[in-house]
Amino acid sequence: MKRVIVTGGAGFIGSHTAVELAEAGYDPVIVDDLRNSEERALQGIAGIIGKDPEVHRVDCTDEEAFARVFEQGAVHGVIHFAAYKAVGESVAEPLKYYHNNIGSLVVLLRLMERYGVKRLVFSSSCTVYGDPDRLPVTESAPDRNAMSPYGFTKVVCERLLRDQSAADPDLRASLLRYFNPIGAHPSARIGELPLGVPNNLVPFVTQTAAGLRKELTVFGDDYDTPDGSCVRDYIHVVDLARAHVLALGRLDGKDVPGCEVFNLGTGTGNSVLEVVRTFEEVSGLPLPHRIGPRRPGDVPAVYADPTRARDVLGFECRYGLREALADAWRWQQALAGD
Ligand code: UD1
Repeated sequence: MKRVIVTGGAGFIGSHTAVELAEAGYDPVIVDDLRNSEERALQGIAGIIGKDPEVHRVDCTDEEAFARVFEQGAVHGVIHFAAYKAVGESVAEPLKYYHNNIGSLVVLLRLMERYGVKRLVFSSSCTVYGDPDRLPVTESAPDRNAMSPYGFTKVVCERLLRDQSAADPDLRASLLRYFNPIGAHPSARIGELPLGVPNNLVPFVTQTAAGLRKELTVFGDDYDTPDGSCVRDYIHVVDLARAHVLALGRLDGKDVPGCEVFNLGTGTGNSVLEVVRTFEEVSGLPLPHRIGPRRPGDVPAVYADPTRARDVLGFECRYGLREALADAWRWQQALAGD
C-alpha cells in the first residue's frame, strides 16, 4: 500500500481526504496533535473505511518527532493541511500564525528532502486573490497580498513551494486554492467540529438551527451584489477531498511541472441570503437571522473559474449547495444525538 501522510488529518478537510484516499487504495497516515480537532474524527474515519487509520499525534513543527513518521515506512507522498485558519485570530496573534503555518511547511520540506519524498499536495486558499478584479477568478489572477496574516501565510507558503520546486527538479507540488468548503460526509460520521463559536457561515447556520445559537447575523446587505449580501463559492467537502486524490495521482505523471496551482470551487457564487434560504428549504426549518454590519476584511464576491481543475485533473463537483447544506445539517443532528 502507498503510505500518504495527511497532516491535519483529523481536521475538517483532512478527515474527508483521509477517507477518499483510503477508498482510492492509498494508506492514509494521519499526523495531527488534535489541538484543533477531536478524537471522534479519527473514530469517524475508522467507521467509514472499516479499519483504524495509522495516526501519529505529532506537532508538525517538531522535526524530530515528525521524522519518526517518515522512518516507519516508505512515504509515497504528503498532503499538508495542518495550519491555523481563523482570520480574526491571525490579526490578534500573528506570531502564532507565522510560526505554525510557515514553520510546519519548512519542517515538512526538510523532512521530505531528507527522506527523498517528492510528491506534495498543499492546502491553499482563494484568500490569496484578495478582492479580485474579475469574476470568476482564474489561477492567473494576481496575488493581492491577502488581507490578513492568515491569508499572507498562504501566500508565503505558496512562494516557498515555488522556490523549493525550482531548487529541487524532482519535487512535484500541487497548490490547491480552496473556495468555501462546507458540508460533511453523507454518512454523518465526520464533519466540521468548530471549537467554540464558529467563525464560518455554515457551522453557524447549523448551530443556530439546532438551537445552540440564538440567531445568525448576516454580515452586511449593502454590498454591490444581487441581493446586497456577500457572494462565495461553496464547495462540498467530499468533492474537495476527491480533488486531492486526483491532484496526488497527477504527480505520478512524467511531464508534470514542478509546481502547479488549481482553483477548487464549483464555479457558482451564492450569496449569504441564498445560503440561508436554501438551508431553510432543505431542513424545513426557519432560520432566525438578522442583518448586521459588514465584517471587516470581507470581500464582496469571490467565486472560482474551475476550468483548469476540470481540464487538467479531470475534477468535477458531484454535489451542489443543497446537498452540501443537507449533509451539514445531518451532521449537526448527529452531533446533537450524542
Ligand atoms: C474565511 C476567510 C478565508 C478562509 C476561510 C477559512 C475571511 C475574509 N476569509 O472565508 O480567508 O480561507 O474563512 O476559514 O474571513 N457570514 C455571515 N455571518 C456569519 C459568518 C459568515 O454573514 O456569522 C458571511 C461572511 O460575511 C461571508 C460568508 O458568510 O460573506 C462566508 O463566510 P466564512 O464562512 O467565514 O468564509 P469566508 O469569509 O469566505
